[in-house]
Amino acid sequence: MDFAQRAQQLRETIVRDRRWIHRHPELSYHEHETTAYLVCRLTRMGIPVQTFGDYTGCIATIQGGQPGRTVLLRADIDALPIQEETGLDFASVHPGVMHACGHDCHTAMLLGAARLLWEGRQELYGTVKLLFQAAEEVFIGSHYYWDRGCLSDVDAAMGMHVWPTAPSGKLVVQDGPMMASCDTFTITVRGVSAHGSRPDAGRDAIVAASAIICELQTIVSRCASPLDPLVVSVGTVHAGTEFNIIADTAVLEGTVRALSEQARQLAETAMGRIVRETSAAMGCTAEVDWRPLESPVCNGNMALNEVARSAARKLFGDGVLYRVQPAMGSEDFSYLMEKIPNSLFLFLGCYDEAQGCVHPIHNGKFQINEDILPIGAAQYAQFAADYLEQSGGEGQ
Ligand code: NI
Repeated sequence: MDFAQRAQQLRETIVRDRRWIHRHPELSYHEHETTAYLVCRLTRMGIPVQTFGDYTGCIATIQGGQPGRTVLLRADIDALPIQEETGLDFASVHPGVMHACGHDCHTAMLLGAARLLWEGRQELYGTVKLLFQAAEEVFIGSHYYWDRGCLSDVDAAMGMHVWPTAPSGKLVVQDGPMMASCDTFTITVRGVSAHGSRPDAGRDAIVAASAIICELQTIVSRCASPLDPLVVSVGTVHAGTEFNIIADTAVLEGTVRALSEQARQLAETAMGRIVRETSAAMGCTAEVDWRPLESPVCNGNMALNEVARSAARKLFGDGVLYRVQPAMGSEDFSYLMEKIPNSLFLFLGCYDEAQGCVHPIHNGKFQINEDILPIGAAQYAQFAADYLEQSGGEGQ
């Protein structure tokens, strides 16, 4: 089947799905209406779909006409606590909630791909699973489906994200790192309280915390390789009760982002050392509570990346491929990548100045040119069909 042509024929349907989902955004873990909509749309096509009594999202399964492996296509379905400011006539009907990260697009594109693959199922070598995943924005939404064993039969997986640093309609299929890990930390500094006029009688937790904040900057500038990107950001500082009291406690919170496990590990080790030694130098004590959230998203399987690139070229020609810098944001597809090493993550460009699509994701004005939707749907479908065909009959 010519997926590019068929996806164009389905453009109106894909756009209609996208607009319905965009109009009815739901926050992480609360995607009930969205899940019901998806189940309705998939069931009406005749596609078997699995739902969960205690969790949102769903998994559709398309059994091909020929034997073969199992490939997973994933879209995330949740929205963000952001007030929409696009002025679109299909803008969010839920105040303060918006599809500002394009997950409405991912969901509609995967529904489109479901239709393409279902229509072409007799020619498929194996099985396609389509995961409509809840709660990506809170970093751990993908864990449920894997931890429950719903994806244990998957041999390869692909996820996709609309991306505002690439021109509208371009596909980014890069080897190596695409997005960063995400860890959070809380540093608690403890000193000794005293009257503000008697610093000699106390141990000032605020001064120690200030020194720690400054020293943490040296993790990136002096400890990490300049060729291996790393971000260390302190986002909150809480200390003190009154202007004339030396504070005995200061609490800092922040996040660390890295494109490699080495840089991530280095940051954790260096932070522990700096916090311990700096607080000791100030006569205080301090501890770090480090909470790992997500690994980097890294396209490490070159053969699989090539399957996705050749699918893109077959559909849209060489010019569709584009390169971008990796992002220091994070994405919970990395959990599935850890579990299913044969995985990759793509970007679909959505920057379009002529259409006013110039705002970043997680912004109340974020929007896309809907011409990209059939492109994403066709890419999902072609990748799945090509991967299955090229690995046909192996390792069932
Ligand atoms: Ni997103």
